[in-house]
Amino acid sequence: MQNIIIFGAPGSGKGTYSEAIVERYGMGHISTGDVLRGEIKKGSEVGKMAKELIDKGQLIPDDLMLQILAKTYDALPQGKGVIFDGFPRTIPQAEALKKMLQERGHELGIVIELDVEQDVLMERLLRRAEIEGRADDNAETIAKRFAVYHNQTEPILEWFEKEGIRNTVRWADTPNKEAMIESIFRLIDSKNK
Ligand code: AP5
Ligand code: MG
Repeated sequence: MQNIIIFGAPGSGKGTYSEAIVERYGMGHISTGDVLRGEIKKGSEVGKMAKELIDKGQLIPDDLMLQILAKTYDALPQGKGVIFDGFPRTIPQAEALKKMLQERGHELGIVIELDVEQDVLMERLLRRAEIEGRADDNAETIAKRFAVYHNQTEPILEWFEKEGIRNTVRWADTPNKEAMIESIFRLIDSKNK
């Protein structure tokens, strides 16, 4: 299996669709947000620093994020492919990911961009706030996360385009979650022939 970068705004479904992909293809999954929330729970030094930034909707510095990513990647079983969920989030992270994989004889694989309208995203995250109570799911922090996404993360789409690995699935074209999962599976299968 090729590696997959699942890419999209807060609430676009990166975690949800990653779970479905893992179940079907048995790939590894790295959610950098989950890794950071794990560090916060442990009360580690990284966790303390991450909490301050996550609560403000800001990004963790690239160099620290890269160290965390490489450590997590190297701990996964090799050869099954990995889904990167929430990474890269800046162009330097994208370049560093490419380099990290090249050094290990691996490739970036494919990008699945989840394109969802912002009002739908806000609605989903506010609903999740009631169920899961994630600290960064409140209207004020969500707005900051959207702004960081537009300013720092969205420009990577052009980088993916130049690498020839960008693929987009649009929520507006899809009647429901199951149909979205089916389109994602079709895309993955077409790229792994
Ligand atoms: P992260 O945890 O990655 O958060 P995020 O990008 O804001 O995305 P979410 O996890 O909120 O949404 P998602 O796209 O996974 O959607 P989900 O499947 O949950 O990052 C958190 C923070 O960590 C960042 O702000 C930053 O501070 C830091 N960080 C992480 N990575 C970093 C990096 N690389 N560099 C620097 N800092 C980093 O779906 C959302 C909800 O919608 C769910 O409840 C789901 O059930 C629901 N839902 C309803 N309908 C649907 C549908 N049709 N499809 C999918 N989901 C649906
Ligand atoms: Mg997520």
